[in-house]
Amino acid sequence: AGRSTKQLLLNAENGGYAIGAFNVYNLEGIEAVVEAAEEENSPAILQVHPGAFKQGGIPLVSCCISAAEQARVPISVHFDHGTTKHELLEALELGFDSVMVDGSHLSFTENVSYTKTITELACSKNIMVEAGLGRLSGTEDGLTVEDYEAKLTNVHQAQEFMETGIDALAVCIGNVHGKYPESGPDLKLDLLKELHNLSSKKGVVLVLHGASGLPEKLIKECIENGVRKFNVNTEVRKAYMDALTSSKKTDLVDLMSATKTAMKAVIADKIRLFGSAGKA
Ligand code: G3H
Ligand code: 13P
Ligand code: ZN
Ligand code: NA
Repeated sequence: AGRSTKQLLLNAENGGYAIGAFNVYNLEGIEAVVEAAEEENSPAILQVHPGAFKQGGIPLVSCCISAAEQARVPISVHFDHGTTKHELLEALELGFDSVMVDGSHLSFTENVSYTKTITELACSKNIMVEAGLGRLSGTEDGLTVEDYEAKLTNVHQAQEFMETGIDALAVCIGNVHGKYPESGPDLKLDLLKELHNLSSKKGVVLVLHGASGLPEKLIKECIENGVRKFNVNTEVRKAYMDALTSSKKTDLVDLMSATKTAMKAVIADKIRLFGSAGKA
């Protein structure tokens, strides 16, 4: 099956639905995404975070690419949260279909020039770029961003930022990596609406990180307001860990199978919720 993130997102834009991008760490995770997507006849994105890459290395990426190529539905392979030029330059050589340039630790001006540099390199290799503006609170793979640092995407800056040539913009509208606070998520849908107004004029699609923990109603409202890629990590990791710790199985292969089944169920639910089921 084809594996171009750009094509998957363009189809989603034309069809008014969103694609799930699921963070994977091992073979069971990769198979869970591919099998759930196949069963739902849906496109999907296999996503590798630098933390996962540090652990699994090139074999993890090769495994994603091979699974994507052999899948019966369109699957692409994406490098998540590239915070340094060094890791992104490596990612651009490894066969990813798309990369995320994460300059959230930089000033706006530095983020623009960082994003521009990587986008030009990626473009010459036909690799799609997602970039982020604003800063998410929450934790992911051991990286902690304190709540007080949370910063919403600025509409004025977004307009200038999209001139860098990016294909997808990761927005910060109150979304959070990992768990949402007890009080529940507080997404600024008016801000999303404004950003979508701008992005649709530029042919840029919107991405929402931190999709774990968002209720169905909010996910649907995000899709109505232009989100075409949802990043999902925590809920799938939790399904894996719960299966691992609660299973009575003592055989290695049985245990691997139990974790895969648990992850698959969560992924299939998200795929249906995102509206991409049946769109392969
Ligand atoms: O996690 C990413 C956010 O959605 C926006 O991207 O962190 O590069 O600002 P950023
Ligand atoms: P969650 O862990 O909240 O699903 O966020 C995933 C993510 O944004 C990966 O980049
Ligand atoms: Zn993220
Ligand atoms: Na989340």
